[in-house]
Amino acid sequence: MEDIKDRQDLIIIVDTFYNTVKSDETLGYIFDDVMHVNWDTHLPKMYDFWENILFQTGSYSGRPFPVHLQVNEKQKLGDTEFNRWIQVFIDTVNSLYQGANATTLKQKAMNLQVIWKTKFNYINNPENSRIV
Ligand code: HEM
Repeated sequence: MEDIKDRQDLIIIVDTFYNTVKSDETLGYIFDDVMHVNWDTHLPKMYDFWENILFQTGSYSGRPFPVHLQVNEKQKLGDTEFNRWIQVFIDTVNSLYQGANATTLKQKAMNLQVIWKTKFNYINNPENSRIV
């Protein structure tokens, strides 16, 4: 198995990842039924996002966290959703690539997932309104 070498490899990962996500019991409906995601615009954004994360290309300049706040308004994001998301991501990378870049990509995805999961658990826990 080869390592991730360029944007084309990340396109393969992103396409494979979302093919699984679309038909996933825990995640699929959030993209299609809740957010009505336009895949033609979402997928290229995700190629840019991961290319920027792995190769620091400057290709992505969005602010992804607020986008998920909007998702969370309609459908709460918690441990169940984030744990499934990272599981599908890691399984997807493992099924396609192996090497230093693949490891870095998985680590960076894991770091973001943990940070966001922690933030959403905080936001979604009503008890926290008393201590902020
Ligand atoms: C609980 C799991 C997650 C769900 C259900 C989810 C869902 C979504 C949805 C519905 C969108 C909006 C797509 C659109 O309307 O165009 C989106 C965008 C995005 N997501 Fe997630 N997401 C999750 C986790 C993550 C994580 C952990 C990351 C990063 C590591 C991430 C990165 C992004 C990025 C970069 C965008 C594009 C933001 C932009 O418009 O610039 N997502 N996600």
